[in-house]
Amino acid sequence: MTTDSIESRLKEDRKFPPSDEFVKHARVSSHAAYTTMYQRSLESPEEFWREETQELVFRETWKTFATWELPKAQFFVGAKLNASESCLDRHLHTARRTKAAIIFEGEPGDTRTLTYFELHREVVRLTAALSDMGVKKGDRVAIYMGMVPEAAISMLACARLGATHSVVFGGFSAEALRDRINDLGAKVLLTQDGAWRRGSVVPLKKMADAAVEQAPTIEKVVVLRRIGEHLAPCAMKSGRDMWWEDALSNPPSDAALKLAKHPEAFDAEHPLFVLYTSGSTGKPKGVLHTTAGYLAGAHVTTKYVFDVKESDLYWCTADVGWVTGHSYITYGPLSCGATCLMYEGAPNFPDPGRFWNVIEKHGVTVLYTAPTAIRAFIRWGDEFPQKADLSSLRLLGSVGEPINPEAWTWYHKVIGGGRCPIVDTWWQTETGCIMLTTLPGACYSKPGATGLPLFGVDIEVVKDDNQPCAANEGGKLVIRKPWPSMARTLWGDDERWKTAYWTQMPGVYFTGDGARRDPDGYFWVVGRIDDVLNVAGHRIGTAEIESALVSHPMVAEAAAVGRPDELKGQALVVFVTLKSGHVADKTTKNKLAEHIDREIGKFARPDSIRFADALPKTRSGKIMRRLLKEIASGATSPQGDTSTLEDLGVLAKLRAGDSDEA
Ligand code: WT7
Repeated sequence: MTTDSIESRLKEDRKFPPSDEFVKHARVSSHAAYTTMYQRSLESPEEFWREETQELVFRETWKTFATWELPKAQFFVGAKLNASESCLDRHLHTARRTKAAIIFEGEPGDTRTLTYFELHREVVRLTAALSDMGVKKGDRVAIYMGMVPEAAISMLACARLGATHSVVFGGFSAEALRDRINDLGAKVLLTQDGAWRRGSVVPLKKMADAAVEQAPTIEKVVVLRRIGEHLAPCAMKSGRDMWWEDALSNPPSDAALKLAKHPEAFDAEHPLFVLYTSGSTGKPKGVLHTTAGYLAGAHVTTKYVFDVKESDLYWCTADVGWVTGHSYITYGPLSCGATCLMYEGAPNFPDPGRFWNVIEKHGVTVLYTAPTAIRAFIRWGDEFPQKADLSSLRLLGSVGEPINPEAWTWYHKVIGGGRCPIVDTWWQTETGCIMLTTLPGACYSKPGATGLPLFGVDIEVVKDDNQPCAANEGGKLVIRKPWPSMARTLWGDDERWKTAYWTQMPGVYFTGDGARRDPDGYFWVVGRIDDVLNVAGHRIGTAEIESALVSHPMVAEAAAVGRPDELKGQALVVFVTLKSGHVADKTTKNKLAEHIDREIGKFARPDSIRFADALPKTRSGKIMRRLLKEIASGATSPQGDTSTLEDLGVLAKLRAGDSDEA
């Protein structure tokens, strides 16, 4: 959040109802209809979900809708299904067979369309190949790819086999990939030679090699040729590595082909995927989602929030490496039979008009993107969107961080031409699908407010004692009841699942976010109130950054904090105390920045590195982050109580200290 926008959000009282034209065609077209559905989802959840999951393919229906003994919950207990069947096979008996499932736009401008028939065929081929490699139900497969259709194909092939996939964002370093593979004990890695990014090549296979070097469980690496030998040469290790095209063209065994064509149905609670995300310790959390509940949540929310119609071309600009790419590029839209646009590259390549040209070129109707991108577009200038024909757009979405009213208004006016509703969607890796928004044909939106709870979501803003806050009173955002698409646990760490989410306030799920609810019942999410930052929509744990820094031989101590930033929402500022004998200079800064690139990934590079002789601490030795945050934000005198400070001199030095940007 930018500082001025917090102020402006609090003053915001405009309401934007959808146009009559939008309402006329909307799935849910009045506030009363939304309320009825919402009430029903809470009062008769089983009937609600039975009706709303009609289109999903359950080979066996559930015996019990839900059971829980918190923090563990189960949904659709006893049901059997194969998630890929709902996303693919079911469409093959309908007119969707020849409809585009994925329209791919490569960064260099190449395009490729996969119909549902073709997508199914490719998934079947990969499933058979994986099966012949020995991948079985329950095995883990890591996916380290860019934004290419094969990323979605990989997820679906794993789902088809019952192997649990874990997509690792292509911006993560070799070390980060290695740690995730090892935590999971993954058997196979699916990757590509390289990915296009702003005209240059991200050498994914090279990084994968470095990771696999220290990941003994990996037996096979399958490599998609996206770039080609001249720009992304790959060392293929014989017996371990194989080209995607070869893996697929080898004739599969009869058994593998049979399994791929007629996949097994798995238990509702079978682990579908693990996605790592940041928490408040140095170790990332492997968020586990299971099959039926997750798919149900992704499916129902895609259908209603994006109001997806047969004629839509829906574009979610998120990366497949994040949960948005799972729920709203892969499982949600495909289970709805939607046509998804997938764009490979950067929004400003070859120029800042790229997004708008893509919309014009393909006729995108629904656009789902992030506030940080919107703020960058504003900075790049209105002439770029104004040059393109954006009249195909009918609905806009936002996700990842609070959207400030300035960005909202620009998005509405310049991109949406004033006619497209905006759905601001609040959710998390852990929630699996959207929890708060305004259904586009049913509810007016307010710039900066996320909106109202979705189906089955019993959500509230509470004080520390778990008592509800009054209207407009700030507090903690908690979810009172389990919901079908919620994470089931953290991979291999039930204890952390419990302590991280369920013990702050007994019996309720704590989101880590602060929020307020206005008198109309609209939620305004302020942002993280735990030790997690949101930098340009990337979730970054301060402890992860700190532990990466202290692993460098020059560093004695480090503290990472956020500072409001106009473009990124939050910027990452680190305070570092060096071990004696090391010089606090530009060279050291560069070394530390490169160290973060290596340990985590370039996207986690600090915006500013500041050196200090010592960090301000309480008597018990805890780093006083609140003070560091104030210093990072440029506050000139300490605010609030500093009586627990060990050494006030430390504080003065920090404030006067080097504040060069990293
Ligand atoms: C955190 C979750 C959800 C997919 C992308 C991020 C913040 C997300 C919003 C929003 C305000 C938002 C929250 C949340 N967040 N969407 N619409 N308004 N804040 O998933 O990496 O798991 O991060 O992102 O702080 O806790 P994630």
